Amino acid sequence: MSSEGAKEDCLGWAARDPSGFLSPYKFSRRAVGSDDVSIKITHCGVCYADVVWTRNVQGHSKYPLVPGHEIVGIVKEVGSSVQRFKVGDHVGVGTYVNSCRECEYCNDGLEVQCEKVVLTFDGIDVDGTITKGGYSSHIVVHERYCFRIPENYPMDLAAPLLCAGITVYTPMIRHKMNQPGKSLGVIGLGGLGHMAVKFGKAFGLKVTVFSTSLSKKEEALSLLGADHFVISSDQEQMKAMAKSLDFIIDTAAGDHPFDPYMSLLKTGGILALVGFPSEVKFSPASLNLNMRSISGSATGGTKDTQEMIDLCAAQKIYPKIEVIPIDHANEALERLIKRDVKYRFVIDIENSLK
Ligand SMILES: NC(=O)c1ccc[n+]([C@@H]2O[C@H](COP(=O)([O-])OP(=O)(O)OC[C@H]3O[C@@H](n4cnc5c(N)ncnc54)[C@H](OP(=O)(O)O)[C@@H]3O)[C@@H](O)[C@H]2O)c1
Ligand SMILES: [Zn+2]
Ligand SMILES: [Zn+2]
Repeated sequence: MSSEGAKEDCLGWAARDPSGFLSPYKFSRRAVGSDDVSIKITHCGVCYADVVWTRNVQGHSKYPLVPGHEIVGIVKEVGSSVQRFKVGDHVGVGTYVNSCRECEYCNDGLEVQCEKVVLTFDGIDVDGTITKGGYSSHIVVHERYCFRIPENYPMDLAAPLLCAGITVYTPMIRHKMNQPGKSLGVIGLGGLGHMAVKFGKAFGLKVTVFSTSLSKKEEALSLLGADHFVISSDQEQMKAMAKSLDFIIDTAAGDHPFDPYMSLLKTGGILALVGFPSEVKFSPASLNLNMRSISGSATGGTKDTQEMIDLCAAQKIYPKIEVIPIDHANEALERLIKRDVKYRFVIDIENSLK
């Protein structure tokens, strides 16, 4: 079943300028090509990246900008050559929708590292139009960049896996932080951070959360299962953790000093940065005296993403979400800036975008 060559109207919510204010916006999705899947979007997670792009923090946002890269939905049409999906399948789309498909990274299933990776929004699509994200009624994507969501995994809960989940899973696996008994520090308890806590506990790690929000302490310990909760401004609590951690994943959405965290790593410990502070600054002694490393990571490849989704389904690892209608999207972005999130907003596109 395919309507190759046809175009459809799509309803979305877009920011029109750097105020970032979102409002309804109609546009056309490209026609379904032979390798494409057309997806009726049911849910879309709200990532801090949506704040960054709608407000043009990096200076290259193209308006109107439809954000959203934690997309979950139901296949409604497939191109004639599509192999992996059929109408009715539950699928997800993450932070990118295309790549060259022939470089060393693409060949390794690490498409996010491809020079020609195309982001899910604000990128250039195959038809030359600007890609538009998941705050919209449907999306057309090459099947390679779609993921299977197991039927028994609730679709609203699946949304945060597509960015928050894979962004913390990738460096944790790469640095062998799936070995029981190791100690993990998580900076920032938002969308990414709470998934790092969930994976940490699923992998049998000893997990310490470093937060600026005392209001998150009780749930972090009782609901998310963290072993320790440290208020990062409390120097005594920080000092008590000196040289105790194998690995820290830094998901803070804003600026903070690095040296106090580096001193918490054991000899040879690693800090993996996934958040985007405006700068990274630390004393050389923080690295060389104890052979520590600092490392970065961006989402993850298609192979790891499907593996992570399947692991979450098999081990019943579920994000903790707050489901909102699309007309609360502006408020949700404001609340992210105020760190008022427990722990991922997910927009109920299916029932609220009309
Ligand atoms: N590398 C990637 O591929 C990738 C992918 C997605 C997102 N990101 C980036 O990762 C970061 C987190 O994204 P998210 O969606 O998880 O955001 P989020 O849900 O808004 O959570 C971020 C959390 O960071 C903490 N925080 C915020 N400002 C801080 C500051 N100045 N100092 C210390 N802690 C601070 C807060 O937690 P507490 O209340 O616990 O302090 C906040 O809730 C953002 O910078 C985002 O752009 C990167
Ligand atoms: Zn994201
Ligand atoms: Zn490539």
